[in-house]
Amino acid sequence: MSKDFSKISDAYEFFVQHSDERDVCYAALLEKLRQKYQDVSCRPLQILDFGSGDGSFAQYLSENGITEFHYVSYDPFLKTSSSHPGAKHVSNLAELKGSGFDVIVSNHSLYYVDDLQGSVDALKALLKSEGVVLIAFASDDDALIVGWNAFFESISKKVPYQRMMDLSVALASAGFVSRITSVPSEISFADTAESRSKIVRFMVAEYAPLVEEKTIDAFFSKYKTKSGGIRMPLIDGIIECRL
Ligand SMILES: C[S@@+](CC[C@H](N)C(=O)[O-])C[C@H]1O[C@@H](n2cnc3c(N)ncnc32)[C@H](O)[C@@H]1O
Repeated sequence: MSKDFSKISDAYEFFVQHSDERDVCYAALLEKLRQKYQDVSCRPLQILDFGSGDGSFAQYLSENGITEFHYVSYDPFLKTSSSHPGAKHVSNLAELKGSGFDVIVSNHSLYYVDDLQGSVDALKALLKSEGVVLIAFASDDDALIVGWNAFFESISKKVPYQRMMDLSVALASAGFVSRITSVPSEISFADTAESRSKIVRFMVAEYAPLVEEKTIDAFFSKYKTKSGGIRMPLIDGIIECRL
């Protein structure tokens, strides 16, 4: 079920450029992480970034006053280009066996794991007992999740990604106590065939050619603006999980 972002990098880049979601979620994650940074007397803080993409979260932390940390990025598809001193990248979590992290962060990545319970249990095993897991994850009201539901229903396929209910169950089963804060953001772009196509590819990757034009049109028509653009509301949860 994994989603290979190296094959949709142009579509993902388009999303990042036209949305404030990454900035909003990074800021919300930073706010939660600051608390931990102040609390931990023995620095550097050990941080694992699960589904790290290009590792830009490490740079964001350094630029925002969090400087004393060791950064380990995990992503099965993309090798982080983080220039944070001592940064380490793994493409298999098993390489981290025996490590302990103060903070495990996952910014919009847990949708794509095959075995959600297995992944959450693996993160729990890597977390120090006083550590915290910080997850940014779309809520069911988020336009992209509404789109997933409509697109996959139209091709008679179960949504092949994890959604909020799945994550809540997996976190609770692993014994995490979670607190969720809702953070709104949006994506807006000129309504052209090329833009629509990029967003659909970002959303459903290899399934995009299977979704009919009329389904795509019905979806985007809900978000048309008077000035000829598309503006979609994104509603994420920042989930703070402790044992
Ligand atoms: C929306 S991007 C977010 C990237 C990064 N966290 C950020 O803040 O820019 C989703 C990431 O999930 C990764 N991903 C896809 N399948 C995955 C899997 N099975 N396990 C972990 N990460 C995965 C992708 O490679 C991609 O980098």
